[in-house]
Amino acid sequence: MADKKKMSAEDILAACRTGGGDSPAPKAKAAAEPEAPKAEAEKPAPAKKPGEMSAADILAAARSGGGGAAAKPADKKPGDMSAADILAAARGGGGAKPKADKPKAAKPAAAAKSPAAKSDAQAARSGPMDTSSILAAARSGDKPGPMSKAEAAAKGSPVGATKPVLPPMPEKPAYAKPAVKVGASDENRRGFMAVLFGSSLAIGFVSLSATALAWTLGTARFMFPNILIEPPSKFKVGFPSDFAAGTVATQFKAQFGVWVTNVEYEGQQQIVALKTVCTHLGCTPNWLEAEQKFKCPCHGSGFYKDGVNFEGPAPRPLERYAIRVADDGQIEVDKSKTFQEQIGQWRDPACFVPV
Ligand code: FES
Repeated sequence: MADKKKMSAEDILAACRTGGGDSPAPKAKAAAEPEAPKAEAEKPAPAKKPGEMSAADILAAARSGGGGAAAKPADKKPGDMSAADILAAARGGGGAKPKADKPKAAKPAAAAKSPAAKSDAQAARSGPMDTSSILAAARSGDKPGPMSKAEAAAKGSPVGATKPVLPPMPEKPAYAKPAVKVGASDENRRGFMAVLFGSSLAIGFVSLSATALAWTLGTARFMFPNILIEPPSKFKVGFPSDFAAGTVATQFKAQFGVWVTNVEYEGQQQIVALKTVCTHLGCTPNWLEAEQKFKCPCHGSGFYKDGVNFEGPAPRPLERYAIRVADDGQIEVDKSKTFQEQIGQWRDPACFVPV
């Protein structure tokens, strides 16, 4: 038989396009006798494995709308389907139909496009779909997967048809509303003051200005010499009659650092001005009227009222300042000149006023 001959892929395709292949008789026969495929489908198909089918078998099965695939059990897994099964399912839809217990030829091919088939295809789409289900859906014209807005509008789907109507926004409470507006100039002034005193930039500028001012004042002070304001070196203490013999006037100690005494030195009564500085280490002694002596509080040196040392570590007598009777008859003390006893300066008439 010629259909048992091995055919190439081109031969198979040409036979499919012409509908006849190498043997037009089966087609004509099928057209003349439409009940023949049904009879063939009712006959049990030979238990040929898919790999053992020849091209003629595949073509015969395709032309008959079911062929050997009609006898294929409907619960065959998609992975186990042969080329003949797939072709038969594509042409006749018999392999994809869930009602596989009926012969494939008993159902016309248009039955795949019936409403029942459509619903079956849609039901199958919701779960895992096998190859026949996909093909049935493709034949029915339904496009699986997401739809565009135009498709959805054509099908009357609510997807993207209308926008949801949102409820109106509630009105703002009174406390959330802005306060009464002040003038633009007030706002500007407040903003300026906030920037001037409230921002870190303003604090930085104020600190910088204060530092610059301190440096300026310091530099200006450096331009002037330090001046020690002292009491005048010459001052008047009163008339000679104000100082009785053997007395010590202490009222000038605090202001001028001088004791004015009327004492006898080397057999001569003199009014002298003694310096109130200890000759040991420079402390200030005190006049002790009861003991008739000057006593140093630091190391205990003692001096007579004429200034000569007699106890303690002081190495020499107190010093004298220059003294004289001024033109007005008052005694004037000059602290710019001092006289020391150990070198014989006390004999200088400039350091005493004879009484
Ligand atoms: Fe006056 Fe030492 S300082 S006794």
